[in-house]
Amino acid sequence: MDAPGFIVERSACAKVILCGEHAVVYGRPAIALPLPELRAFARVQPSSDAFRIIAPDIGLSLYLAQRPRQAHDPLARVAWAALDLLGASPPRATLTIRSNIPIGANLGSGAAVSVAIVRALAAWFGHELSPAEVSALAYEGELLYHGSPSGIDNTVIAYEQPVWFVRGQPPEVFSAPADLPLVVADTGVVTPTYISVGAVRAGWERDRARYEALFDAIAALVSAARRAIESADLAQLGQLMNQNHAYLQQLDVSSPELDALCLTARAAGALGAKMSGGGRGGNMIALARDAAHAEQLAQALRDAGSVRVHLAFRKQAA
Ligand code: MEV
Repeated sequence: MDAPGFIVERSACAKVILCGEHAVVYGRPAIALPLPELRAFARVQPSSDAFRIIAPDIGLSLYLAQRPRQAHDPLARVAWAALDLLGASPPRATLTIRSNIPIGANLGSGAAVSVAIVRALAAWFGHELSPAEVSALAYEGELLYHGSPSGIDNTVIAYEQPVWFVRGQPPEVFSAPADLPLVVADTGVVTPTYISVGAVRAGWERDRARYEALFDAIAALVSAARRAIESADLAQLGQLMNQNHAYLQQLDVSSPELDALCLTARAAGALGAKMSGGGRGGNMIALARDAAHAEQLAQALRDAGSVRVHLAFRKQAA
């Protein structure tokens, strides 16, 4: 198709897993929240050259001229899947990716880039895709980031709303009636999700009974967390976050840095603190009493060595 002569740009948010990570890979429920202020951007502009995806910040350049039998790059796979759904050939255009979501920090940077690419290509070809369609296309990329993704990252990012997620079922978006003043703090330890997901898989294969019991305990806690959110019981939610962190330690996906930041947050009065996402590094989350307390927690976490702290105050309404 000839370049239509205009530029389109679309974006996608980051995410945190509030509770239920890892167990969600094994069919248990989990709750994830969008982080709208952290975003990945995909901009498509006309070019005289063949279709190319570039990400200048990480030195990536991919030509998508001829369809490979199987695309091995997640971004190429997502782009081809999107073009198939749109019934389009690669445009004469360059798609440029920029992102302010840290990579390898368990904030969904890969899924966010995928969602931004899908949205930008759809807009370029004049289509509006539903969140479910966007999510399904982004999942193609997730399959290459780690072997058995539950699909929670692409889902919460495509819907950009709090989601109650069970693998293989349509997600439920839901409302949090009160603000959830969360502080998201990065250990600075970069760990791709496949490392921790693989470690849990190996543990589960060694001792299925123990792991299944832990997953069941996490599932019960996630249900209680949803009730706590819906009744705006932040103290109860905090307790459940602490409990979830303890179970994740038992799954051996936490790390000394994550544990230390959780202890710091609790000592500074957090209602609860836990690692979030894949673990073995990346980010933890702490629940503050209110926005002013969140600022204090953020300072305590910086002082304890967190390399990046993000405050997420907004009411997470569906
Ligand atoms: C990653 O954000 C959450 C994990 O449960 C992996 C997945 O669900 O695919 C660790």
